[in-house]
Amino acid sequence: MIALGCDHGGYQLKEFIKKHLENKGIECKDYGTYSEESVDYPVYAQKVCEAIQKGECDKGILCCGTGIGISISANKFKGIRCALLRESFSARLTKEHNNANVIALGGRVTGTELAADIVDTWLDAKFAGGRHQNRIDIISSFEK
Ligand code: RB5
Repeated sequence: MIALGCDHGGYQLKEFIKKHLENKGIECKDYGTYSEESVDYPVYAQKVCEAIQKGECDKGILCCGTGIGISISANKFKGIRCALLRESFSARLTKEHNNANVIALGGRVTGTELAADIVDTWLDAKFAGGRHQNRIDIISSFEK
């Protein structure tokens, strides 16, 4: 189950990604926002990250204008590893190496077809484990 969240700057891209996932038969929950009216992006990062922390969802996709503010917000939550993505190579590597459980995209930066490829690449990739798990354990130790 994938949690979706956005602010007004990421609303159109979030709607596109929601349809893209639904067309592929991938379940998602939409935590808003639900229009282009101005809102505060940290609130929607919080909704998605708390859904993951509670186990309601196992992954998240966040969109704001640039993807920057919402990714900074998401990375404040324990257990969340959010990658701000601009291209598909990093989408694969952030799963293989960082086991990113959330990705952030910029609705004012990344076009829909590239965003769809980034999402698909991240979802299809597998965490490589091994030395990368050790590095994630070090990151997790910073949360204590
Ligand atoms: C909202 O205007 C904009 O600041 C936000 O969507 C995002 O780009 C912040 O990082």
